[in-house]
Amino acid sequence: MQGDAYLKCIDPQCGLEYPIENTNVQCDKGHMLDVKYKNKPSSSLKEVFYKRRNSEGSIFNESGVWRFRDLLNFCQIDTESMEECSKYLVSLDGSEGRQSKPYHMSKAAEFLGISNDNLWLQPEGYNPSGSFKDNGMATAVTHAKMIGAKKIVCASTGNTSASAGMFAANEGMNCDVYIPAGQIAPGKLSQAYQFGAQIVEVDGNFDDALKQSLDDAQNHDGYTVNSVNPFRIEGQKTIPFRALEYLNWESPDWIVYPGGALGNTSSCGKALMELYEWGWIKKIPRIAVINSEGASTLSDLYNGKFEGEELRWNKGNPNTELISRYYDHLDKEGLRPKTKATAIQIGRPANILKGLRALEFTNGVSTTVSDSEMLDGMSVVGLNGFDCEMASGASVVGVKKLMKEEIIKKDDVVVGILTGRQKDAMIPVDYHRNPENKFAIPPKN
Ligand code: F0G
Repeated sequence: MQGDAYLKCIDPQCGLEYPIENTNVQCDKGHMLDVKYKNKPSSSLKEVFYKRRNSEGSIFNESGVWRFRDLLNFCQIDTESMEECSKYLVSLDGSEGRQSKPYHMSKAAEFLGISNDNLWLQPEGYNPSGSFKDNGMATAVTHAKMIGAKKIVCASTGNTSASAGMFAANEGMNCDVYIPAGQIAPGKLSQAYQFGAQIVEVDGNFDDALKQSLDDAQNHDGYTVNSVNPFRIEGQKTIPFRALEYLNWESPDWIVYPGGALGNTSSCGKALMELYEWGWIKKIPRIAVINSEGASTLSDLYNGKFEGEELRWNKGNPNTELISRYYDHLDKEGLRPKTKATAIQIGRPANILKGLRALEFTNGVSTTVSDSEMLDGMSVVGLNGFDCEMASGASVVGVKKLMKEEIIKKDDVVVGILTGRQKDAMIPVDYHRNPENKFAIPPKN
């Protein structure tokens, strides 16, 4: 018997359903899964969420994730019962998502040539492990705990490992982290070591590490916490929830993300689909996904740069053979994803189909930016007193590029997500030492 929450295959022709305790990240035919809820939440919850901002001593109100627990209630608990919340919901003392909200940053607005009132940037780097991952990890580890998992497993370009390691340590679980050997800056990995995770170095890139981690999770009783896990996506929906809440649920014209494995794109799309279906928002913001030039799978396929066909979700009939041929082409030509923004150095975005669905629903776009542009984006955020990492800089300079192409209009309201905090100490040092860089303030002697 199924309760209110269950899992459903995203392929409309397949549509297989599973009980919420299921731990496979795919349906029996190999398609991705969504968490679904039968009940339509009342929009009066908007007031409940607002009131919970005065936490009254509850860590589940303090948490920027669990404040919205009624919209992620896959544990099917009484969301007003603190006893049930404490028993089921995984939280780092209410800190996940707590400091995340959209801000105006005047120097970034000036750089982009957009009015300060119309530009919002939402730093997710002030999460406890330093990136947006804590939003989705809180929910994935909640599900892991619910089904009694002893070990969580992930592949990572850095931030996922820190987040998984942190929650695992706090919950007394084991954690295995698969990383591409030699391709991750020490600053990005040090937290996973610190939190006692077992690092497994894989000879290959992130895509190879993910494959190996999924195989190992299946064969050795591990619980996968990468964004292919549908419960990760549930927690990451709170990123747009918080943005919308601070905008009084008035949709912006755009929500902009850097694109890697496309978990964020997928979760933002799912959040918007749900809110629109429930009548909580009247306008659907458009999603813009910014790839690095050196890891541009989504942008290439979406914009028809491979074989001239623009890849689309196509109401659930995407041309998956085109994707396979693109990957074969990368392999044959020895093309490996390459960018200094290692967080998004990903060639095979595991959530590409959910990402395409999100872009179709929101009339979204995708483009690329260069490494030096991302560094400028990161640096101008710094000049406003906020810290973000290089991959996050893509959200800023992506807006600039799309404005130049007149896709984003001067009067549009834009929310850019700054996904992670600086963890590579030398990146800003090297940037500012080079006077040629746009925002450099070189040292004096
Ligand atoms: N920004 C940062 C800072 C990231 O760490 C990542 C992904 C992304 C953007 C891309 O987000 O995958 O949702 O499109 N980092 C992963 C990791 C893959 O292992 O830490 P996405």
